[in-house]
Amino acid sequence: MAVPTGVLWKRDLHTAAKHTLLRRYVSAWFPIMASQFRDVGITFFDGFAGPGAYTNSSESSPLIAMEHALRGEVTRWGTQTRLVFVEDHRGRAEHLTNLLNARFPPTIRPPGLEVRVRRGKCGDLYGQAIAELGGWEGPVFANLDGWGADTNYEIVQRIGQQQSSEVLVTFEDQFFIRFANGEQEAGERVFGRSNWRRVDRLNTAGKKPFLLGLYHQGLHTAGFPHVLTFEMIDEGGHSLHLFFGTTSDVAVRKFKDGLWEVDGVSGQRFRDPRDPDQMSFDILRPDFTPLANGIVELLGGREHSMAELCKHALLETIYKETHVKPVVDSLLEQRRVELARTGRSYEDRVLRLAEQSLF
Ligand SMILES: C[S@@+](CC[C@H](N)C(=O)[O-])C[C@H]1O[C@@H](n2cnc3c(N)ncnc32)[C@H](O)[C@@H]1O
Repeated sequence: MAVPTGVLWKRDLHTAAKHTLLRRYVSAWFPIMASQFRDVGITFFDGFAGPGAYTNSSESSPLIAMEHALRGEVTRWGTQTRLVFVEDHRGRAEHLTNLLNARFPPTIRPPGLEVRVRRGKCGDLYGQAIAELGGWEGPVFANLDGWGADTNYEIVQRIGQQQSSEVLVTFEDQFFIRFANGEQEAGERVFGRSNWRRVDRLNTAGKKPFLLGLYHQGLHTAGFPHVLTFEMIDEGGHSLHLFFGTTSDVAVRKFKDGLWEVDGVSGQRFRDPRDPDQMSFDILRPDFTPLANGIVELLGGREHSMAELCKHALLETIYKETHVKPVVDSLLEQRRVELARTGRSYEDRVLRLAEQSLF
């Protein structure tokens, strides 16, 4: 998508899918966090907030956050809930302010809810904008939904130091192409160091996996032990990458539940960017081959219990823990793997690679 210049623009399929995922995730995040952090409060930070609407849709990340922050199961805890929106474009920041005031007039907002729109660059303002409302006292969920090369590594690092905090970062394909052409300054800002420049020495096919892997590693280093990454591909074949960084297994599970919810995310195929075969699939008709191959590869190293394989699926792949059993059953049937030991429970069963035989 060409970068829009007007105040509003048309929402594309990627953005619609991203909104579905965000809505599903924050519908769990707000009530859980509000109940757990009553003493210090919680902060939803939208670093690239946009105007709050599209020419063809009234859904947007700020409105999704507002709607969920105002739900009874959130406000009943009386937890200080801060919503901080930063937007660089003057017209968009004004549009958002007016929209929020019209849709959620300050008179209907509960006393514990603080909402602030700040105009300026996310990299310049994030620290102060969050501090003004006392947001650094508690957990922060940072939605970093820029156009591509806008999220400074420093922001991700700062959020990573904050207890129980999370980031959701958007990447566009264009972003990588620009890097390959040597936009050094942007690369330095986003990766936080110069090792991304090795991309110049790689062939075309190797560039994208290298940069994605490096960013994945960068999120780990920033303080997120769990990084979920996937590529969304629309009907025209355009792709967009999302990186979700968290310290919590439960958060990974919730995020994936949103991704895999039965009705799917319309018009999108998905791909685990770390799958060497680069297989993409429709969530409604998923392809489990990458998960099966990953399990075989793991068992090639040593025996693993079902519990370990489920943990691997949850934390290292796009798949859910519940996908492991049918995949293992099918691998057993194909005699690619075998049972090494049964255990007291299903999770304790230990699997290994099957002995290869000719007949
Ligand atoms: C992809 S749109 C955001 C969409 C929005 N999150 C939503 O879900 O509706 C990116 C927005 O970031 C703004 N922007 C670009 N660079 C920025 C920066 N450095 N700091 C803050 N906002 C920026 C753009 O003006 C644009 O409105």
